Amino acid sequence: IRVEALERIAEVEDIKTLQDIRITYLGKKGSLTSVLKGMGKLSKEERPVVGEIANKVRDAITTSLEAKIEVLENAALEKQLEAESIDVTLPGRPVKVGGPHLLTSIVEEIEDLFIGMGYEIKEGPEVETDYFNFEALNLPKNHPARDMQDTFYITNELLLRTHTSPVQARTMREYKGIKPFKMICPGKVYRRDNDDATHSHQFTQIEGLYVDKNVRMSDLKGTLDTFAKKMFGEDRSIRLRPSFFPFTEPSVEMDISCKVCNGEGCSVCKGTGWIEILGGGMVHPNVLEMAGYDPQVYSGFAFGMGPERIAMLKYGVNDIRTFYTNDVRFLKQYHQA
Ligand code: PHE
Repeated sequence: IRVEALERIAEVEDIKTLQDIRITYLGKKGSLTSVLKGMGKLSKEERPVVGEIANKVRDAITTSLEAKIEVLENAALEKQLEAESIDVTLPGRPVKVGGPHLLTSIVEEIEDLFIGMGYEIKEGPEVETDYFNFEALNLPKNHPARDMQDTFYITNELLLRTHTSPVQARTMREYKGIKPFKMICPGKVYRRDNDDATHSHQFTQIEGLYVDKNVRMSDLKGTLDTFAKKMFGEDRSIRLRPSFFPFTEPSVEMDISCKVCNGEGCSVCKGTGWIEILGGGMVHPNVLEMAGYDPQVYSGFAFGMGPERIAMLKYGVNDIRTFYTNDVRFLKQYHQA
């Protein structure tokens, strides 16, 4: 029994078979067990001799089984470790990182530019009162120029602001008609428009306002010229055309020159060689007065521009809706590495 059992144990390659072997020899009906059961039939002299041999055989089989189990378990562990080993020298998988939205980058670029000229950044509410959106800007109730901006009304007195100009009136009030200041205000605005490639019911504006003693039209022109050259390149120039806004007098619209066509092509604007990018003018005396500034002492200039328009011009984007639909294939073209 001993020789046979040890031989079988040596051959076995898995733990399950070892259990079977244990049962075959040492189990309740195992061959060694039946030897021990048969002891009763032996004579008194034979019993201790056979008993001793049987015990030794059982010990030998048990020891051998345990040793083999250990060997097999170690081998299995070894195999698992090998399978799960990690090659730390392999290059890692790239982690996808986001980046600022093109519109955010443009707004920040414009902010930086004006901060460099001494402007502070202001904010105002998107749900605005009729008073700040219109009346404080020299647009009393029933003024025909209200038609220039189709408005989403919430109640008779509350609306979604149609431009960032109400922040002009708010800031002038904050400075109480006594302090000079320069501010720009970026933010979302809303108009009752049908969306197409160049119109959106919600878009972005950046308002600018400078109030001080002796602010003149030439200051506005110089500021806008600096802005245009820094934003689009030193080879660009601006022109001001007369326009109308109830809150500025005189009012202007500003065009920027298109790039001269070269071997690599021309920029977006066709035809005249000029493209409009903002509206502005000298703050109307009524607006100054309503906010508490004496128009005999103080003057100011204001402007409002659309960053989408600027981004479209600068990067040749041809549909304003691409700013809002958040197609990452579009957006990630503008992420800096
Ligand atoms: N608020 C005007 C608009 O939305 C732009 C503007 C701003 C004009 C400031 C003059 C001064 O069209």
